[in-house]
Amino acid sequence: MTVRKTSGAPAARTWLVTGGAGFIGSNFVHLLFAQEPNARVRVLDKLTYSANLKNLQLFRGRKNFQFIKGDICDARAVARAMAGADVVVNFAAETAVDRSIDDPHTFLRTDVEGVHTLLQQARKEPQLKRFIQISTDEVYGQIKRGSFYENSELRPRNPYAAAKAGGDRLAYSFFATYGLPVIITRASNNYGPRAYLEKMIPLFVTNLLDGQKVPVYGAGLQIRDWLYVSDHCRAVHMLVDRGVSGEVYNVGGGQECTNISLVRRMLKLMQRDERSIKFVQDRPGHDFRYSLDCSKLQRLGWRPEHNLRSGLRSTIDWYSANEDWWRPVKANMERRFFTGYWGRKR
Ligand SMILES: NC(=O)c1ccc[n+]([C@@H]2O[C@H](COP(=O)([O-])OP(=O)(O)OC[C@H]3O[C@@H](n4cnc5c(N)ncnc54)[C@H](O)[C@@H]3O)[C@@H](O)[C@H]2O)c1
Repeated sequence: MTVRKTSGAPAARTWLVTGGAGFIGSNFVHLLFAQEPNARVRVLDKLTYSANLKNLQLFRGRKNFQFIKGDICDARAVARAMAGADVVVNFAAETAVDRSIDDPHTFLRTDVEGVHTLLQQARKEPQLKRFIQISTDEVYGQIKRGSFYENSELRPRNPYAAAKAGGDRLAYSFFATYGLPVIITRASNNYGPRAYLEKMIPLFVTNLLDGQKVPVYGAGLQIRDWLYVSDHCRAVHMLVDRGVSGEVYNVGGGQECTNISLVRRMLKLMQRDERSIKFVQDRPGHDFRYSLDCSKLQRLGWRPEHNLRSGLRSTIDWYSANEDWWRPVKANMERRFFTGYWGRKR
């Protein structure tokens, strides 16, 4: 088995960023052009409900940027998008746990079959130096005490997490079997600009900006680690050159807190009080706590630049300044989202 090595960053690489019209993928494209202005960047995105072309409007008309509307399960679209790529970063996925509980099959299709289609095409691209599969901390399942290491057992507990675990291990198998230069990242909960409003932080910030209540699942005692999106993107960009093929890297913000304490921080920053909280029925099988040990990534020189305080401040500032981005998104969100997922009375 030969494993292709990555050398130092060449002047202008060709990148395929799948899912680049979504939250993290678009933030990654912004970071990529800031770090490598001459990079040739292709985005392949199906434009599902969570995508937004406004996320990429800054790059429209640039000679070194191309947007391709397409599905990562479609081998022809993938072949066209990946032709000649030096680096592939796969952000494309179905990502909402609540939706996966209603419709697991859609998640299996994109998060496993789609990854397979990308990996098969990657085998046909001899110039490809790196394939990054963006996975998630949810593949580990929940943990009461301590933190997950990259070699911890995977025990996904909802269909989203199980499908992501499938894609994660399938990507590894293409390294082990075919020598594809694959790296897998498992990140904690991301927040920041341009996140679709079904995620907790953007939903709550925009509700509070509108003077509405925020729906908290159960008693809000679940614990999550929060990672500011640009810190995640910096880690992914660094790993393209400094990571080792076949390895998994945890990416966490080191900012663990219960959902209710996160809400209280937001209320304080936005000058609201506890009357803005509405407790709703908990999600079935809601994981109690996620926690990542990120020392492997830190040994490569990465540190998060944001703590929860600075990250929340800049997130609130972004949504306050970008009503033209989120108001149409909120107006178009399905009613079932509010009445179904976040609306069940306790
Ligand atoms: N958001 C988080 O907190 C978080 C944490 C850890 C890992 N991740 C992972 O990061 C990645 C990006 O997540 P996000 O929060 O930006 O999600 P998102 O829902 O905002 O974006 C996903 C993007 O993928 C596209 N897409 C979906 N199915 C597709 C398909 N079949 N073909 C092509 N494009 C498709 C969508 O149109 C969208 O633009 C996902 O792989 C997710 O599992 C997210």
